[in-house]
Amino acid sequence: MPSIKPLRKAVFPVAGLGTRFLPATKSMPKEMLTVVDKPLIQYAVEEALEAGIEQIIFVTGRGKGALEDHFDISYELEATMTARGKSLAVIEGIRQRPGSPVYVRQQEPLGLGHAVWCARDIVGDEPFAVLLPDDLMVGRPGCLKQMVGAYQKVGGNVISAEEVPDDQTHRYGIITPGARDGRLTEVAGLVEKPAPGTAPSNLSVIGRYILQPEVMRVLEGQAAGAGGEIQLTDAMAQMIGDQPFHGVTFDGVRYDCGDKAGFVQANIAVALEREDIGPAVRSFATGLLR
Ligand code: G1P
Repeated sequence: MPSIKPLRKAVFPVAGLGTRFLPATKSMPKEMLTVVDKPLIQYAVEEALEAGIEQIIFVTGRGKGALEDHFDISYELEATMTARGKSLAVIEGIRQRPGSPVYVRQQEPLGLGHAVWCARDIVGDEPFAVLLPDDLMVGRPGCLKQMVGAYQKVGGNVISAEEVPDDQTHRYGIITPGARDGRLTEVAGLVEKPAPGTAPSNLSVIGRYILQPEVMRVLEGQAAGAGGEIQLTDAMAQMIGDQPFHGVTFDGVRYDCGDKAGFVQANIAVALEREDIGPAVRSFATGLLR
């Protein structure tokens, strides 16, 4: 097997309009919605850093300025907190090293594949991760770190996989599974949002990917697919057979924060695990359900 190149870069597609969360997202990026007290995007960035990522790349668009400010220094806030003797621990770590994140613009909402392709010049000729902040992955170690463990063994392309109920397969990229070895499944085929009743399995693609740079060349000529959008899944499907391709089933819990019920569930679950507010939320929830 050719040598496995280390994973240093991660792409975060964050140009989506978030119409499902209106009115909350009218003037605020959906990635800034908080689960308890931390924006979704910060959970995803922290997961990437834990996995060894050095270069954060946001594929962004108009109206997403709050994301840039979130990962920058806030002089007023830091000066005021310092003057009041407050710890800066809660905002330390948000700011990245100078030059990271990098922001590129998608300009038009042409699909996830197109968003990823917009980062091609920054990704260059290196493997890279893609993290969709809508999928909040709660586990130890984090999802991407678990995937990096697998990547270091098998190389090639590694995607996060999760079984979903049969009546949900039309909402996801779906894997045709090959050989299985514990949490690792060979990917023999991929289809984006198959019509109900036509899915090759119920093993779905979740919003974490480790991809080889060749996918950028495939995306270059990728025609629109499901929903009239340029789909990452379609481009990945074309790489099967040329490069190793595996799915890793996440050891942890995924919350679909692109969905209102999933978002509320994430808030409850994360709150219940917190030392500071967990007991109060638990006694309130227990009383509510009695
Ligand atoms: C995207 C991908 C899909 C994947 C899903 C995971 O779909 O296109 O393959 O299963 O994320 O969350 P979206 O949710 O953007 O429609």
